[in-house]
Amino acid sequence: MDKIAIIGLGYVGLPLAIEFGKKYSTIGFDINPTRIKELQEKKDKNEQILDFSSSSFLKFSHKEEDIKDCNIFIITVPTPVDIYKKPDITLLLSASKLVGKYLKKQDIVIYESTTYPTCTKKECVPVLEKTSSLVFNKDFFVGYSPERINPGDKVHTLKNITKITSGSSEESAQKINSLYQSIVDSTYLAPSIEIAESAKAIENAQRDLNIAFVNELSIIFDKLDIDTHEVLKAAKTKWNFLSFTPGLVGGHCISVDPYYLTHISNVYGYHPKVISSGRLINDMIPNFITQKTIKLLLQHKINPLHAKIAIFGASFKENCKDIRNAKVFEVYKELEEHGIKVEIFDSLVDAKEVKKFYGVQVFPISSLKKQYHAIIIAIPHQEFLEVNYQKFLTSNGLIFDIKGALQRNQKNIYKL
Ligand SMILES: NC(=O)c1ccc[n+]([C@@H]2O[C@H](COP(=O)([O-])OP(=O)(O)OC[C@H]3O[C@@H](n4cnc5c(N)ncnc54)[C@H](O)[C@@H]3O)[C@@H](O)[C@H]2O)c1
Repeated sequence: MDKIAIIGLGYVGLPLAIEFGKKYSTIGFDINPTRIKELQEKKDKNEQILDFSSSSFLKFSHKEEDIKDCNIFIITVPTPVDIYKKPDITLLLSASKLVGKYLKKQDIVIYESTTYPTCTKKECVPVLEKTSSLVFNKDFFVGYSPERINPGDKVHTLKNITKITSGSSEESAQKINSLYQSIVDSTYLAPSIEIAESAKAIENAQRDLNIAFVNELSIIFDKLDIDTHEVLKAAKTKWNFLSFTPGLVGGHCISVDPYYLTHISNVYGYHPKVISSGRLINDMIPNFITQKTIKLLLQHKINPLHAKIAIFGASFKENCKDIRNAKVFEVYKELEEHGIKVEIFDSLVDAKEVKKFYGVQVFPISSLKKQYHAIIIAIPHQEFLEVNYQKFLTSNGLIFDIKGALQRNQKNIYKL
């Protein structure tokens, strides 16, 4: 019987450990002892997993020797970009080094972390070979199975999203595919590891570009004084028009993964233009929101220097508490730089974490008492849709509903 180690118990690793732990002897390993302690106490700070009870074969550990008896190692560590927007695969390589130490003949290492095409075989496998002194595709095998989960999304879950699988040999690919088939509803066995890596990279690059397109439309239609959301609503009546909403693009996937693709393309001598333009436009949106807010204040005869603004939403996307790369803080800081007083509200995120990473105090919406000259609904969590905003607006105040999530019948409401 297989014994599985999941390396890295974050948004991706924990749900996976929970599913495997229902059927297989599983070690959920993380280098962070605090995370392990919480999980041993059946607490998930990300609030993704509420029920640990059915994973009877799962044990959590931060002691690396606990993975030594495993024969399947699944790596789910972060793959961010550095300050120059270059892939930072340090954690992927250190996790590979750790697994390499315990690798035995016939073992399989599966990478789930997002990366660029060729990374698994060209970067990770040499580390596994070096630390294990074993020979790739003779003594041990690797696979790549990208993760597609969407935290906060209750409809598309690990279990019901089709899982792409791949392996370094015919036999290992079949074995990896059956392993995932035993925990999810459907799998797609890709012909190679590079195809599986590329599929993941293009999925998020495509989404980034589609949002960049509607964000660019917002900039154009703002100049023409035409309501972008109404334009999109009309265009959507065509059968093949793709539906996307303008807004902030942050987080650790959509706003990061395209750089992995452009990086490898640059290495091979082609400098991508379309993908890079999409990134450029989406990265401009916080500035566009700031400028538009100031324009709206002036149109409402509010002096920005005396304005008080409340921003709603401090995570990178709605109904999710993940604050990594949350672009709303760029809006916050830019407004402050213009001398505007800004407060930010969000009950979902961890206020201490926000303070630590962004140096900003975030308030729960229950503490909303004052009146503001403008309310910006940046990230429309479900709970924000119920608020009676007019109560918290000055008589000349306005609402800037970035994603057009509120009911249309509000007074003085604007969208991106
Ligand atoms: N979060 C998502 O929605 C999502 C979706 C699809 C793909 N991904 C990809 O999955 C990967 C993991 O992302 P995440 O959001 O789960 O990250 P995360 O930050 O939530 O969790 C990563 C965990 O790995 C641990 N870790 C770091 N280095 C380690 C090491 N060497 N050994 C063991 N544990 C280690 C950290 O302590 C942390 O608990 C990334 O490549 C990401 O791009 C994420």
